[in-house]
Amino acid sequence: MKDTVAVFDFGSQYSQLIARRIREMGVYCEIVRHDISKDELVGIGPVAVVLSGGPASVLEPDSPSMDREILSLDIPILGICYGMQLMAQLLGGVVEKGRSGEYGPALIETTGSTGIFQDMESPLHVWMSHGDHVAAVPEGFRVLASTHDCLISAMMDKAGRMFGIQFHPEVVHTPKGVEIIRNFLFHVAGCRGDWTMGRFAEESVRRIRDTVGDSNVICGLSGGVDSAVAAALINSAIGDQMKAIFVDNGVLRKGEVDEIRTLFTEDYKLDFRIVDASARFIDALRGVTDPERKRKIIGETFINVFRDEAASVESARFLAQGTLYPDVVESQSAHGGPSSMIKSHHNVGGLPDDLDFELLEPLRELFKDEVRVLGRELGLPESLLMRQPFPGPGLAVRIIGEVTEESLAILRDADVIVQEELRAYEGYGDIWQSFAVLLPVKSVGVMGDERTYDNVVALRIVTSLDAMTADWVKLPYEILGKISSRIINEVKGVNRVVYDISSKPPSTIEWE
Ligand code: XMP
Repeated sequence: MKDTVAVFDFGSQYSQLIARRIREMGVYCEIVRHDISKDELVGIGPVAVVLSGGPASVLEPDSPSMDREILSLDIPILGICYGMQLMAQLLGGVVEKGRSGEYGPALIETTGSTGIFQDMESPLHVWMSHGDHVAAVPEGFRVLASTHDCLISAMMDKAGRMFGIQFHPEVVHTPKGVEIIRNFLFHVAGCRGDWTMGRFAEESVRRIRDTVGDSNVICGLSGGVDSAVAAALINSAIGDQMKAIFVDNGVLRKGEVDEIRTLFTEDYKLDFRIVDASARFIDALRGVTDPERKRKIIGETFINVFRDEAASVESARFLAQGTLYPDVVESQSAHGGPSSMIKSHHNVGGLPDDLDFELLEPLRELFKDEVRVLGRELGLPESLLMRQPFPGPGLAVRIIGEVTEESLAILRDADVIVQEELRAYEGYGDIWQSFAVLLPVKSVGVMGDERTYDNVVALRIVTSLDAMTADWVKLPYEILGKISSRIINEVKGVNRVVYDISSKPPSTIEWE
């Protein structure tokens, strides 16, 4: 049995960060709803519980609470910020609204290096973000740390099982935060720290076999990291019982279909079919220039093609999806809880809810970087695991104006050059996305002695952390120059290359 830590979610943006920190220490961790019942929690069997922070105030009447009996279970508990205040309130302590609150860096004095503060010096730099505070600790507790103006910053019960801290150990602005969490996990809760991705893979394989039995599973492959890792994992569990479907929508990059085919039929020997629906997509896109219409057409056509193909798979009971943990948490909070979890994220190009399958989501406990580690564990190549994001509507939103066979051919050839040159560039690892865009303008040029009147290609090369904001990359001129001259010389139909130097916002990463 692996050690599991349950993180109670009281709505803090940091709950996921806490979960990550814990897993990084080799301890498996799950985020659970704050109102989970004692019995449900016991079912998960956690060796420790962390109560996260949250934006509410325990002094408000309808603020999120928890099953009080959980505090009497013989499980170590760490309450952080709101979690500490709730713990204090439920156990008979006093929580008060502060006059001004504490936000930002603070210095705390600890009363000894015990429990979560084991082997630590005092004072400690910490990061605070709270309005309310614990004015009196519950009976049986003692103050473990306070700020210079005597605000209680940490508390501990007599048995050394329950701890509360007012500050945030999970953020980088609390320099010793990781050690405090580590002390809680290993020193207080006795975790072993032996959770690895290899173990995760073994457990998943067992779980998938148990769930699936002798039914078949349909897996939609998109060419992206998540669906590829999900497919490789399910394949190692049930082999040919998984039928993978890849829809060629005609707006993929050059060589993409062949790469996928080679990887999954030759290296992985999946039961794998490629549905060449490119003509159907291109026909549907003919004459369409509006970006949102393009997206809608591609989405709908995909659903129809996938539905037809899935219907031809015999005794298929499950549909595999590469849903990740952040998607799960997002849909949980967006829909107000597990009851609405049946409607899960549909990563495979947005499948509708009425497909008659049960969902198999073997990655739903993982973060993106953990998925990459798992992919490595399963032997997937680095080139696939480190792939840049590629939009579902593909090259259709990188051809401004109408998508035709000719415009696709030009863009594909230009895009290959961008990729080739950048892969050879030492800063490639820092680039979030890099691609070519075909513009709907022609410009005059001269090649040899002849006047040309040809297409313009724009280069879009950006850095980003999460695609919410992005900045253009200050590439060395030699690289820009080489990409430009190669495109103009090698791609028929292009006589001008421009570099997009806009950031997001106010621009977006894609041009459409
Ligand atoms: P924007 O252009 O909005 O893009 O700055 C942000 C990120 O989302 C990707 N993107 C899409 N992905 N379907 C997708 O699956 C889409 O319609 C779509 N539009 C943009 C884009 O490549 C970038 O990573």
